[in-house]
Amino acid sequence: MVCLGNICRSPLAEGILQHKVNEAGLDWVIDSAGTGGYHIGEQPHKLSQKVALHNGVDICNQKCRQFTKEDIKMFDRIFVMDLDNLNEVKRITKDAWNEKKVSLILNELYPGKNREVPDPWYGTEKDYHIVFEMLEKACDKIIENYR
Ligand code: 4NP
Repeated sequence: MVCLGNICRSPLAEGILQHKVNEAGLDWVIDSAGTGGYHIGEQPHKLSQKVALHNGVDICNQKCRQFTKEDIKMFDRIFVMDLDNLNEVKRITKDAWNEKKVSLILNELYPGKNREVPDPWYGTEKDYHIVFEMLEKACDKIIENYR
């Protein structure tokens, strides 16, 4: 799961999918990272933690890290939150870029629509709830599509 900061959206996506994978008894390895390096080592945003916990998902033990070229070799699927993230993943992975592995997470729900998960960084708590709901639906679809 990849966003810009690995502080707001992708930690939620990681936490939600990990929760569902545990419930489904799947052995998938889930992780998240940011294309930017502004918050390396930090916990997820307080509002991401709060909204996740409100929905029974604990993400407080996650630590921000930056996306690396190796990630595209390590992981079978990489879901990005928006088109900027997609372009950054392309830029970072250079010759290792593999378009079959990388896609917008909301294309799982709305194939071909190229919808983006809005960045709640400058928003209010309501925006984090909106993001949580979008990601929850997308993660249900990921389980359905890939199990
Ligand atoms: P995220 O949100 O990409 O959902 O983690 C952001 C977090 C931090 C910044 C931008 C977006 N920032 O500019 O520090």
